[in-house]
Amino acid sequence: MVRSLAYVGALLAALPSARAGFNASSTQNIAVYWGQNSANQANSQQRLSTYCANAEIDIIPIGFMNGISPVITNFANAGNNCTAFPDNANALDCPQIEEDIITCQKTYGKTILISLGGGSYSQGGFSSASAATSAAQTVWNMFGPVNPNSTVDRPFGSAVVDGVDFDFESGVNNLATFATELRSLMDASASSANRKFYLSAAPQCVYPDYADNPALNGVVSFDFIMIQYYNNGCGVSSYVPGATIQWNYNFDVWDNWAHTVSKNPNVKILLGIAANTGAASGYVSGTQLSAVISFTKQYSSFAGIMMWDMSQLYENSGFLDQVVSDLAAPGSSPPATTSTGGSKPTSTSGGSTGPTGGGGGTVPQWGQCGGEGYTGPTQCQSPYKCVVSSTWWASCQ
Ligand SMILES: *[C@@H]1O[C@H](CO)[C@@H](O)[C@H](O)[C@H]1NC(C)=O
Ligand SMILES: *[C@@H]1O[C@H](CO)[C@@H](O)[C@H](O)[C@H]1NC(C)=O
Ligand SMILES: *[C@@H]1O[C@H](CO)[C@@H](O)[C@H](O)[C@H]1NC(C)=O
Repeated sequence: MVRSLAYVGALLAALPSARAGFNASSTQNIAVYWGQNSANQANSQQRLSTYCANAEIDIIPIGFMNGISPVITNFANAGNNCTAFPDNANALDCPQIEEDIITCQKTYGKTILISLGGGSYSQGGFSSASAATSAAQTVWNMFGPVNPNSTVDRPFGSAVVDGVDFDFESGVNNLATFATELRSLMDASASSANRKFYLSAAPQCVYPDYADNPALNGVVSFDFIMIQYYNNGCGVSSYVPGATIQWNYNFDVWDNWAHTVSKNPNVKILLGIAANTGAASGYVSGTQLSAVISFTKQYSSFAGIMMWDMSQLYENSGFLDQVVSDLAAPGSSPPATTSTGGSKPTSTSGGSTGPTGGGGGTVPQWGQCGGEGYTGPTQCQSPYKCVVSSTWWASCQ
């Protein structure tokens, strides 16, 4: 068993194009944060492109833009390869990361996100709705497609990220306004740039998440979220193997959020875990990890694993292979539908269920409803219509 699964991992590793980039139809996405060098050893964080060559990793959120108004960026020791911008010593000009993002995307097909917040974010958000709107414009001008009208400093130069991640861990005033503006800028760019831009978040598993909730509570359409199932009583270490009902481990609660609260009814959830003992409290491996992943596969929103962080993962030999094997293994059988409690998700759509069981559901304004390779719902929420912009992109407008 172990041997054949290891073989699957080796096979995938030999075929980089087999799985690369976020795939909403897959339950085997792997996201690993890079930029903060959590292991904090001299060489424990190498340049970004080192990790993009690893075919087992699909998504890399770069941490962090840990100040928005005013702008602050911090990439731990990777910042040593950057220089401060002359007009703002707190923002880094990083040509090596620029080069690597382009390599990661073009050569390896990775999804690269800029992550906002992190534990050291302490600005408390935005003083007004208009300040939040203009901050969203600044962020997108810094990291999105080059806007010739903007003179803002771009830390990654000509490189364009695939999206933005919210990792706020303390309160953010006017977050919903900020997120709404960012989403609309991203969707407008998606249509003109012919590519998808993702909005993700990394809430704590405690529901609802204090910091990110104002955006997660049905206001803004997220493509996926990567929940921190560590450092918390609801984390993977509290999972009880064999129990159908889990009192502490709460993926059911977030799956219910996905179906009943989330603005995007097809939102995907990655289970976030610590990548090594020192990365966070609540690290699990071996049979406990296999069991919790197998159990969590029963939820239709489940889309893979997030890990904190790259430096810790690379000091934990064999761990990534185990995660890949656990994701490839069959899940445990779903519980009886009567044991779920609460109300069933309502769906107004009669849409067909896709091959991955993603279900029907309708797409909100600006959400994707078509395009080559897209397998999600195609019916727009009233009164929007699905407008085709290109072979790759159709959205509800
Ligand atoms: C996405 O995942 C699905 C399910 O595993 C797979 O069939 C499909 O080929 C993947 N798409 C891409 C573009 O890799
Ligand atoms: C800094 O640049 C050097 C030289 O290219 C490279 O070897 C190293 O991995 C980089 N460090 C980080 C943390 O990006
Ligand atoms: C730049 O400004 C022009 C003139 O106001 C406007 O038409 C155009 O849409 C702007 N471009 C972007 C990317 O904002």
